[in-house]
Amino acid sequence: MKNELKKYFIITYGCQMNEHDSEKLAGMLEGIDYQKAGQVEEADIILLNTCTIRENAELKVFGKVGELKRLKENNPELIIGVGGCMMQSKKAVQQLYEKHPQVDLIFGTHNIHHVPDLIQRIEKERGRIVEVWDEEEGLIPDLPSVRESDFKAWVSIIQGCNNFCTYCIVPYVRGRERSRPLKEIVSEVERLAAEGVKEITLLGQNVNSYGKDLEEKVDFADLLQELDKIPGLQRLRYMTSHPRDFSNKLIEVIKDSRSVCEHFHLPIQSGSNSILKKMNRGYNREKYLELVNKIRQEIPEASITTDIIVGFPGETEEEFQETMELVREARFDSAFTFIYSARTGTPAAKMEDQIPEEVKKDRLNRLMTLQNQISLEKNQEDLGKIVEVLIEGESKNNPETLMGRDRRNKLVIIPRAEGVIGEIVKVKINRVQSFTLYGEVV
Ligand code: SAH
Ligand code: SF4
Ligand code: F3S
Repeated sequence: MKNELKKYFIITYGCQMNEHDSEKLAGMLEGIDYQKAGQVEEADIILLNTCTIRENAELKVFGKVGELKRLKENNPELIIGVGGCMMQSKKAVQQLYEKHPQVDLIFGTHNIHHVPDLIQRIEKERGRIVEVWDEEEGLIPDLPSVRESDFKAWVSIIQGCNNFCTYCIVPYVRGRERSRPLKEIVSEVERLAAEGVKEITLLGQNVNSYGKDLEEKVDFADLLQELDKIPGLQRLRYMTSHPRDFSNKLIEVIKDSRSVCEHFHLPIQSGSNSILKKMNRGYNREKYLELVNKIRQEIPEASITTDIIVGFPGETEEEFQETMELVREARFDSAFTFIYSARTGTPAAKMEDQIPEEVKKDRLNRLMTLQNQISLEKNQEDLGKIVEVLIEGESKNNPETLMGRDRRNKLVIIPRAEGVIGEIVKVKINRVQSFTLYGEVV
């Protein structure tokens, strides 16, 4: 019987929210009797879950859709669906619909719970369907997920974003902030912990806004405090927190908690006050550094990481140097660095003085060189230290070794024989690089 089930294959771009949405899509497809295909060629249905945060992300999607055309030619029964953030743009939908007749289904971020119905309609009637909602209708209902991992899980706590940073497309494609009721989150985490999940990552574009839109009086710190009590759960993480409203209460709760990991991802975006203002970030470099210092004082073992954009419209060499200076001062453990990408519909895309591509690339290179050096120096401080690592799987480049992450989210590599995937081990660090720690289990 099992072999007769039709097969699905999902390709995901973008951030953890998209990864998590893909787990829900998988859950719904299994609910209508599909099973996961080992390879894309075996699939009866292929879904692309897209991202539109930067132009590169979109180019990848168009490239992939083009590639899939060949599969459709070999198998006209194949259903190809494209959903996710990029499909919230009318222009992208139009381009896809007109130039890529191999695409049968287009859906948005607000109606993923309708995908099984839409697929069944296509199976019956064989037509093309475009269903994208402009606006969210409250929370997307709880959906069953097929998780990639037995020991790690994502839990969504707030959807959407109200911040409207001037460069960012997310508020336009994910809608306004909607928090999930505390009780629902607690029971989901309880269930996952009882199933043996060791690490949970709470998801939201801005988790510290949690609760602002709820009737009950709860905030993100209260939520962490509640979840910390759940037995069995060993590690609690969250993505992403905004530096603007990272409260003292939150630092205290994290400090006193058992399970919340000692990792703070605080996207600074720029070290220049004038640029931060144009970005509408709601803090300045002084406030940001104050926050970093407070965290280091309260939780000295914590890692602090960030996101930085270079080449925002109008960014001068001096303003870029302020970012370099901030990076030297803050000494991040690591940073995701991006070249500014103009997104149609955002205020920054209309600003004057868009920076030439070569200048942006040159700034990115200088910034990366600086940060890599700092990351290496930071990691060198770990030599001889013992860290707690959750082993996640085989390491990418060397099947003789396993990789995992310590509580600070640093990547740690150990010899294969010394660990078991899904287990937490203590590792003594004996060699380091900019992005990786190497060690032996003690
Ligand atoms: N909600 C998160 C960020 C989500 S997007 C937050 O506010 O921190 C992840 C990162 O992509 C951002 O932190 C930013 O550094 C980068 N990013 C967003 N829009 C971008 C754009 N138009 N060009 C380049 N990088 C961008
Ligand atoms: Fe985008 Fe800013 Fe919202 Fe993050 S906080 S998703 S950068 S608008
Ligand atoms: Fe991309 Fe959407 Fe995430 S635009 S970064 S997948 S919220």
